[in-house]
Amino acid sequence: MTRALLALLLVACASEEPMDTAFEAPETPADVYARACSYCHADDGRGTNLGPDLRERTADMSVDDVAEVVLYGSGFMDPIRLDPEEAREVAEYVLEMVGD
Ligand code: HEC
Repeated sequence: MTRALLALLLVACASEEPMDTAFEAPETPADVYARACSYCHADDGRGTNLGPDLRERTADMSVDDVAEVVLYGSGFMDPIRLDPEEAREVAEYVLEMVGD
């Protein structure tokens, strides 16, 4: 009896997991930046040992340019796994952050 209950509980938990992710609040562009970019470019875009200062690098870049770098990479930067919509939003966020 206990065992059957336990099995039932496990099944219930397992089947709930995909739903949890589906209903998570959508990430804001700032969340995406924090998750996918700040590790190399720092929270404020000023760069780290791993990535250059984005204020300098994006000075002549449009939102499309930055989104393209995110999706396809550029030089030593590998492409970042985001969908095009997220890439565009994070690109807008970056340009706003660096004050372009
Ligand atoms: C693993 C480290 C790393 C991560 C994560 C990373 N970058 Fe970069 N990024 C780099 C490096 C290194 C360069 C310099 C590439 C070069 O010039 O060879 C760079 C360059 C850039 C450039 C300038 C490209 C150019 O052509 O001048 C932009 C814009 C940029 N990154 C935006 C982003 C954004 C936005 C994210 C998050 C979605 C991100 N990066 C995540 C390492 C990273």
